[in-house]
Amino acid sequence: KEVKLWGGRFEESVTDAVEKFTESISYDKALYKHDIMGSKAHASMLAKQGLISDSDKNSILRGLDEIERQIEAGKFMWRTDREDVHMNIEAALTDIIGEPAKKLHTARSRNDQVLTDFRLWCRDAIDTIVRSIQRLQVALVKLALKNEGLIVPGYTHLQRAQPVLLQHLLLAYVEQLERDAGRLQDCRVRMNFCPLGACALAGTGLPIDRFMTAEALEFTAPMRNSIDAVSDRDFVLEFLSANSIIAIHLSRLGEEWVLWASEEFGFITPSDSVSTGSSIMPQKKNPDPMELVRGKSARVIGDLVTLLTLCKGLPLAYNRDLQEDKEPTFDSVKTIVGMLEVSAEFAQNITFNVERIKKALPAGYLDATTLADYLVNKQIPFRTSHDIVGKAVALCVSKECQLQDLSLDEMRSLNPVFDKDVYEYLGVENAIRKFSSFGSTGSACVTEQLHSWVAKLGIN
Ligand code: ARG
Repeated sequence: KEVKLWGGRFEESVTDAVEKFTESISYDKALYKHDIMGSKAHASMLAKQGLISDSDKNSILRGLDEIERQIEAGKFMWRTDREDVHMNIEAALTDIIGEPAKKLHTARSRNDQVLTDFRLWCRDAIDTIVRSIQRLQVALVKLALKNEGLIVPGYTHLQRAQPVLLQHLLLAYVEQLERDAGRLQDCRVRMNFCPLGACALAGTGLPIDRFMTAEALEFTAPMRNSIDAVSDRDFVLEFLSANSIIAIHLSRLGEEWVLWASEEFGFITPSDSVSTGSSIMPQKKNPDPMELVRGKSARVIGDLVTLLTLCKGLPLAYNRDLQEDKEPTFDSVKTIVGMLEVSAEFAQNITFNVERIKKALPAGYLDATTLADYLVNKQIPFRTSHDIVGKAVALCVSKECQLQDLSLDEMRSLNPVFDKDVYEYLGVENAIRKFSSFGSTGSACVTEQLHSWVAKLGIN
């Protein structure tokens, strides 16, 4: 067995069970690129500060490049007995370049090293997720563009409420996603400070330049407090919280589309390419991707809860428990990207069943509130209008007809202010035309919003 990097004070090697239990290489090798980046910045700083020679620095940089090539070619031997990504790379560097490699860990601990790697990794992950969010936004806006003028029932309590333009509804999701991206960007700004040079927890007496490494790695600045630098995990808690909110948004979208694809709604038909069948029921065509979007939101929330629970009760500074922060983070990122990508794919592969939606629109008195507004325009106090229209609806329910089927006399029997212009307010098409407030489902307003999204997202 190889002597551990810390072998000096040890007489026995760890048992196989302990080695297997404590390793993290099986998953933290995902940090290799950022680990190498961090080590290069660190070595360059050590040389600039006269802590190592230029020739040592050059061998270190060359060795690290070689290791990166080997990893990318799948030729690097990841060793469990070398525990984690940091020690695998450092030990391999020693194998390749010999003595100079032993100087790389000057004024550095794995505690500040792992956090440097992890922040760099999360920063990249945020950029990836933001791009996926934008792709979904584009898919939703394109779906809206394809379905101009289509009116759908808007729901509250899952009961028919008021008519809305489908475009308006789709843009509601685009707005949510925009805030999601904003939350990630905010988190990125707070995350982007460099722990490197905090060493184990207390910093160092060696003349390092933390500003130089921070800048080389494109961090805003070094973290101010070395104890905080190696203890803090709020950057990743915030990240996974932002992911959880995205997951909730996508889960709601998933639920909506699953409902819409049902026989009961029948609003959309997903194409075969985004549906799956049943192993027993020959007729089935299920919207599984969106069901799984809904389902996988559970993992993303679980990942956050894992991390919250992990951090609870840990004294300052580094504790080995914190090694457990990687897997939930990797899982959260992988899951959220998959959810975003598949939602975009689904959006590109659904058709709205226009005829069926139109046929169903008269049900549910979607124009009732518009009728109440009509009475308000005739100087009737809203509460009274509400009551009058309620009675009109009750009349329609008993006659099994629509509001627009009531005769003027029937309406006048409820209140004499009704005039024949009332019919301009009835029926969903008319009702939609009456919306004019800022942010409403009125077509001028929706078109304006749509155009601004088209421009913002660079859709042509
Ligand atoms: N693999 C460890 C982690 O992910 C690196 C830090 C280990 N530090 C230590 N003192 N054992 O947290």
